[in-house]
Amino acid sequence: MLKNDFYGYMEENKLGKIILTGDRPTGRLHVGHYVGSLKRRVELQNSGDYDKTYIMIADAQALTDNIENPEKVRQNIIEVALDYLACGLDPQKSTLFIQSHISELTELTFYYMDLVTVARLQRNPTVKSEIQMRNFEASIPVGFFTYPISQAADITAFKATTVPVGEDQLPMIEQTREIVRKFNSVYEEVLVEPEALIPQNQACHRLPGIDGKAKMSKSLGNCIYLADSADDVKKKIMSMYTDPMHIQVSDPGHIEGNTVFTYLDAFSRPEHFERYLPDYANLEELKAHYQRGGLGDVKIKKFLNNIMQEELEPIRQRRKEYEKDIPTIYEILKKGSEAAKEVAAQTLSEVKKAMKINYFEDMELIREQAEKYKNEN
Ligand code: TRP
Repeated sequence: MLKNDFYGYMEENKLGKIILTGDRPTGRLHVGHYVGSLKRRVELQNSGDYDKTYIMIADAQALTDNIENPEKVRQNIIEVALDYLACGLDPQKSTLFIQSHISELTELTFYYMDLVTVARLQRNPTVKSEIQMRNFEASIPVGFFTYPISQAADITAFKATTVPVGEDQLPMIEQTREIVRKFNSVYEEVLVEPEALIPQNQACHRLPGIDGKAKMSKSLGNCIYLADSADDVKKKIMSMYTDPMHIQVSDPGHIEGNTVFTYLDAFSRPEHFERYLPDYANLEELKAHYQRGGLGDVKIKKFLNNIMQEELEPIRQRRKEYEKDIPTIYEILKKGSEAAKEVAAQTLSEVKKAMKINYFEDMELIREQAEKYKNEN
C-alpha cells in the first residue's frame, strides 16, 4: 500500500495515527536510549500529530530472561517510569502502562503463535544476536525465543501505526508486519500494519559505550545514565575512549571510532558552537582540525561535557521532583494500565470474532446450530 493510500485508508476506517513503544525494565535508561528513541517520543507526543500515544514498560518481556530476578524487574519498573517522566513524557498526553497488567496481550500472543514458524523466529536477527549475547546455547527459554510474537501483540493490540524505536528493533517491527498480513489474509482486516520510526541521525542508531565498545551495557559499566549526577557525567566524558594513536596534541587524530566525535555527532547542534566553542563554526571544522593535528582531547571532551550537561540537567531536575512522590508514579501507571487494558480488550474481541472463537456472542452460530439439529431430528 502506498503511503497516501495508507492514510486514506485510515481516515476511512476512522482510525487515527497511533504510537506504541516501550522498554524492558532491566535497568535505568541511558543516553543511548535517549537519542535512540526517548527524545523522539517526547517530540512526537508534543507534536499533536498523533491521536494516541502509548508507552509501555515491558516487564513481561524483561522476565523472559530474568525469571529468577523478579525483584530486579520490579525495582526497574519505577526507574524506567522516572526516566520517562523526567524526559518529558506526560501522562496527560501519553498513556504510560505496564505490560503484564494487560492480560489480553498474553492471549493475543497465544493465537499469533500459530501464524509464525519456528524457522522464522530463528532467523530474526535481534533474537539471534541476543541469544548469542546471553550465552543461552541450548537452554533458551521458550518465552524468550518467542518474545517477538508477544511484541507483535503489544503493537497490534493498540492498532499502532507508528513505533518509534532504536534501530536494533527493526526486525521486531518486520516480524509484526508479517503477523498482521498473515492474520488479515487468513481472517479479516482487523489488525493494522505498523511502521517503525528510527532516528534520521546515523550516530543515534547505536551510541557506543564510553569505552568505545559497540554497545552500552550495565554489565560492561560503560553507560552514561540519564539519572547520573553532573559530576559522574563529567567524569565519564573525561575518561572517554578517543583515538589511541592521538598521543600529542599536535598528532593528527582519527574521527572514525572516536567515541567523543560519535557523541558529538549525536548531540551537538550549531548553537552549541556559538555558546561553548565560538572558534569553530560547526562540527565539520572541529573534525578537520582534529584530523590535521593540533587539537587536544581535553578540549573536545570539555565541549561535549557542556553540551551533555545542558541536555541532561533539566531531565535530572525533573527526575528529582518525581522521586519525591513515588506513590503518585504508581497511580499514573495504574491509571494508564487501566486505560490500556480497555483498548486491548476491544482489539482482542475483534480478533476473536475474526477467528470465530467468540462462541457465546455469535448469535448466528447458535441459530445455525439450532437449525441443524432441528432438521436432523
Ligand atoms: N523490545 C523492546 C526493548 O527491548 C521493548 C518492547 C516490548 C517494545 N514490546 C514493544 C518496543 C513493542 C516497541 C514496541 O526495549
